[in-house]
Amino acid sequence: MQKAIGIFDSGIGGLTVLKELIAALPREHTIYLGDTARVPYGIRSAETVTRYSFENTRFLLAQEIKMLVVACNTASAISLDAVKHEFPLPVIGVLEPGARAAAAATGNKKVGIIGTEATIASGAYERAVKKIDPAIDVFSMACPLFVPLVEEGWFDNDVAELVANRYLAPLKARGIDTLVLGCTHYPILKGVISRVLGSGIRLIDSATETAKEVSEVLDKLKWKRTDGGTAVRKFFVTDTPARFEKIGTLFLGEGSLKAEQVRVGGV
Ligand code: DGL
Repeated sequence: MQKAIGIFDSGIGGLTVLKELIAALPREHTIYLGDTARVPYGIRSAETVTRYSFENTRFLLAQEIKMLVVACNTASAISLDAVKHEFPLPVIGVLEPGARAAAAATGNKKVGIIGTEATIASGAYERAVKKIDPAIDVFSMACPLFVPLVEEGWFDNDVAELVANRYLAPLKARGIDTLVLGCTHYPILKGVISRVLGSGIRLIDSATETAKEVSEVLDKLKWKRTDGGTAVRKFFVTDTPARFEKIGTLFLGEGSLKAEQVRVGGV
């Protein structure tokens, strides 16, 4: 099918998911919506995050997408079921692929989850892991300072290491052997996180796992793009694009990024 894959996130973070999607499915057209006027979602109520998710989905559906990827961990944790129920297209979130990979990876059945305050408060990752294997002990930790650190470009310096140590020491003390990076921004902190945790703890990147799942679902539906020509990538944002375009390249790992400002819902 020639239509694009639609992806939304609260802002720039979902570009880590898009990056993995492009690596796994380079020929697919993509339309990315970053809700930069309303970021962060991670400190908002479930009701608000669900409303934002619905509005973002309506915008992307109007662009004629074939599938939706909710690339935001907070939106996936809080509103994925509601979005699936409300809209008539395949919807994939970042949470279940990460939870599945963690359950498969853990040897000692002790898994750590890190994410925004809203993601951790929702308990969604814990439920997803326990649904796969109730014997797994899940230890969760909200790491609210990680998002601003990454957006400031401080993802691999002494401050990042200090903050990572504070957040991760209690999880390490629990003896986890697997840690889920349950937020779009955290893959960028992989270096510092692995240094702080040491070599015995496996990191699960929800972005990579989600890209694998999208590919599998498209295969199953026989919906992969079959025509020739290069893939078209469109970027929309709800605030002015300058900051997104500047920091976005760090997340996407590609040259220049051009985004168009749009109105979604009330903003
Ligand atoms: N995209 C969000 C997430 O993955 C992080 C940023 C925010 O709080 O909106 O949870």
